[in-house]
Amino acid sequence: MFKILHAEFLAPGIKRFRIEAPRIARKQKPGQFVIVRIYEEGERIPLTIENSDPEQGTINIVVQSLGKTTNLLNSLGTGDHILDVVGPLGKPSEIKQFGTVVVMGGGVGTAMAYPTAAALKQAGNKIISIVGARNHELVILEQEMRAVSDVLMITTDDGSYADKGFVTDKLRQLIQNGVRIDVVLAVGPIPMMKAVADMTRAEHIRTLVSLNPIMIDGTGMCGGCRVLVDNKSQFACVDGPEFDAHEVNFEVLVQRNRAYRNQEQQSLAEYRRAHESQVASREAEANGVCAAQGVKQ
Ligand code: FAD
Ligand code: FES
Ligand code: MG
Repeated sequence: MFKILHAEFLAPGIKRFRIEAPRIARKQKPGQFVIVRIYEEGERIPLTIENSDPEQGTINIVVQSLGKTTNLLNSLGTGDHILDVVGPLGKPSEIKQFGTVVVMGGGVGTAMAYPTAAALKQAGNKIISIVGARNHELVILEQEMRAVSDVLMITTDDGSYADKGFVTDKLRQLIQNGVRIDVVLAVGPIPMMKAVADMTRAEHIRTLVSLNPIMIDGTGMCGGCRVLVDNKSQFACVDGPEFDAHEVNFEVLVQRNRAYRNQEQQSLAEYRRAHESQVASREAEANGVCAAQGVKQ
């Protein structure tokens, strides 16, 4: 069992957890992830280690509520426990002095890009970060990204904060303005990573993406996370999750990620029904107690 020492919402539906995991905290390197299982019959899901503190023996994860398991995880709070946290898994990011690195984070992808951005900054690179979200409320880790960036740009799809538009608009501007870019790291939704890859391919800018295929064991045994890179099968959990964006077959990734969409929607609907009936019965119980005590509702 792994104790949650602290949990806080960073944005609606996005929660950061600090978890007691001393062995993982000692070994973690930027770009690596853990596989989490919340209860005995629960599924395993991969989550990037956003930060770690080897002295305190803690790791941070940032979780966006999407389906059943992430909703269940985000219903946990400080003092609760997670059954299994396995890691650190995956190849660490390549950290060396490239020159100028553009780090792009879309949505919760910002939390996944952050540890690599911090390590690249420490290695002496100039970091231009571009953080994007649908709206102001969903912009996460602004202070943290600012602290590790020479330049931080923010975009929101609806213009409710900073500049209206997409992260790719900012990348296009940088390229058009002739800014020297040695490497781009893009982490976020698949359409965003594909759009970045298409833009930088023409400019011959080395581009890395962190892929998010379905993972089960995280150790190269189950084949669940198979991706097509340079026309060869690779397992993202052991060969990645970072790959050369110009070699990734994003169409296959999209198709494979959709494979269980019906079952995922069904289990989310079941989870919501069970959750709502639990809330309703707690409310009924509370109302009953209040009524019995003659308290006005
Ligand atoms: P579901 O409704 O079951 O699925 C929703 C979608 O999530 C699916 O269509 C599929 O595309 C994807 N998915 C489902 N099951 C899995 C699975 N076992 N493994 C991977 N993807 C799955 N999310 C975060 O919020 N924060 C992170 O830091 C983070 N890091 C990740 C690191 C890696 C290496 C990978 C591969 C994924 C990461 N994700 C992260 C995505 C996260 O694992 C999925 O959002 C989560 O598994 C969805 O589970 P669910 O049951 O809530 O949703
Ligand atoms: Fe099973 Fe990668 S998650 S092989
Ligand atoms: Mg699921």
